[in-house]
Amino acid sequence: MARLLSVNVGLPRDIEWKGRTVHTGIWKDPAPGRCRVGRLNLEGDGQGDLVGHGGEQRAIFVYQIESYRYWQEQLKRTDFVLCGPTRFMADMKEALATLGVAPERIHVELFNGSESITPGVVSAAPRAPHLPKDDADTGPLVSFARSGIAAHWNASGYQSILELAEACDVPARWSCRTGVCHTCESGLVSGAVVYGPEPLEKPADGNLLTCCSQPIRDVVIDL
Ligand code: FES
Repeated sequence: MARLLSVNVGLPRDIEWKGRTVHTGIWKDPAPGRCRVGRLNLEGDGQGDLVGHGGEQRAIFVYQIESYRYWQEQLKRTDFVLCGPTRFMADMKEALATLGVAPERIHVELFNGSESITPGVVSAAPRAPHLPKDDADTGPLVSFARSGIAAHWNASGYQSILELAEACDVPARWSCRTGVCHTCESGLVSGAVVYGPEPLEKPADGNLLTCCSQPIRDVVIDL
């Protein structure tokens, strides 16, 4: 029978990161006693990024103790595992080293570059790219250059350019879909986008993150 070992909660807070403020709910502490479960949260808990976390279907996450035990046994020690954009991980590694943490206790999990998280690219597209079924004649034109598709942006139909690409069966890479991992980074040939949510780290000049961007005028994307 399943047994609950620990309930951890924490409210989001604003932190300074690389000269800007990031709203994050990553820090959790063990709840001191009983904890009421609400529709969206545990009492005393909250999520920073409500696009990637939270909501009625993701109000609570359960982690199995077996997973922790497995990795403890595999690694033979309690480690720090870093996961996020490359520059963030480099900064964190440096900060941990400054605190005296031995390099062998610091592990890095890479989001990007893995074939298993690029389904649209590593396997054949189920259908040839096509216009979305709800394409209208208004809104900025989003051209997927390699796929030869130009579809109109419908702000009420899509939250991101990635969603529009998927509606067109345009092959596109993605993983976190919240602007953290940069797996979706693609070339922005022309035009301009805004971000919502703001990515943790901006893409390189001339690129965009399709998973969290929206066009503000006609754009051409290297997909
Ligand atoms: S899929 Fe991770 S940043 Fe876009």
